[in-house]
Amino acid sequence: MARRELPDSTTHSTADSGLSQARLQPIRPATTADIYAIYKLNCESFSEAWSVLALGMWQERGDDLDVCYDENNNLAAYYLAQDVLDEVHIMQIAVAPAFRRTGLAKRVMQYEINRKRSKGMASMLLEVRTSNAAAQALYQSLGFAVVGRRKNYYSPTPETPLGEDAVLMSFSLKG
Ligand SMILES: CC(C)(COP(=O)(O)OP(=O)(O)OC[C@H]1O[C@@H](n2cnc3c(N)ncnc32)[C@H](O)[C@@H]1OP(=O)(O)O)[C@@H](O)C(=O)NCCC(=O)NCCS
Repeated sequence: MARRELPDSTTHSTADSGLSQARLQPIRPATTADIYAIYKLNCESFSEAWSVLALGMWQERGDDLDVCYDENNNLAAYYLAQDVLDEVHIMQIAVAPAFRRTGLAKRVMQYEINRKRSKGMASMLLEVRTSNAAAQALYQSLGFAVVGRRKNYYSPTPETPLGEDAVLMSFSLKG
């Protein structure tokens, strides 16, 4: 996977969060050495986790898998997406619990928006669980709009025996 150019500085003090005084390292593409840490945060963040193998294959294929570590080399966030023609399909973004509500997801998303815009991509698209109010609020705060709903999109659970619906959200990278 080609290394991507990184912004001059993506370090970010989280001192105002009260949770961590750690500074963040620049956002960068994941390597195979990052996969297990990504897997652990994936399991912590989603009810349907990806396997180490699936994450490793994603990284090897060169699709977007970006990471952000703190200064103590703890994984603070990762982002996973795939380009389909001129559309970016966002699969996942996860922030480690100690870093949540410090603006990190917004920072990672803004970084990815700027990067894809400069590459001439047209839009970003994602599905999010109807129950995931935090993620929907995050995307709305960035300007994503609800463009549809996918019925029974997620696997059935005791709470949602038919499978939870997905809200489809989109963001234009043009203009
Ligand atoms: C959703 C998630 C990525 C948000 O990460 P985060 O770093 O805490 O988000 P930010 O601090 O950047 O928040 C940006 C905005 O999103 C909204 N938001 C984030 N978390 C929220 C919450 N728990 N409740 C309500 N709004 C929330 C707010 O508008 C927030 O702005 P504000 O703090 O100024 O009010 C994080 O909670 C997470 O990893 N969740 C588990 C995985 C997941 O659901 N991923 C998304 C689905 S793919």
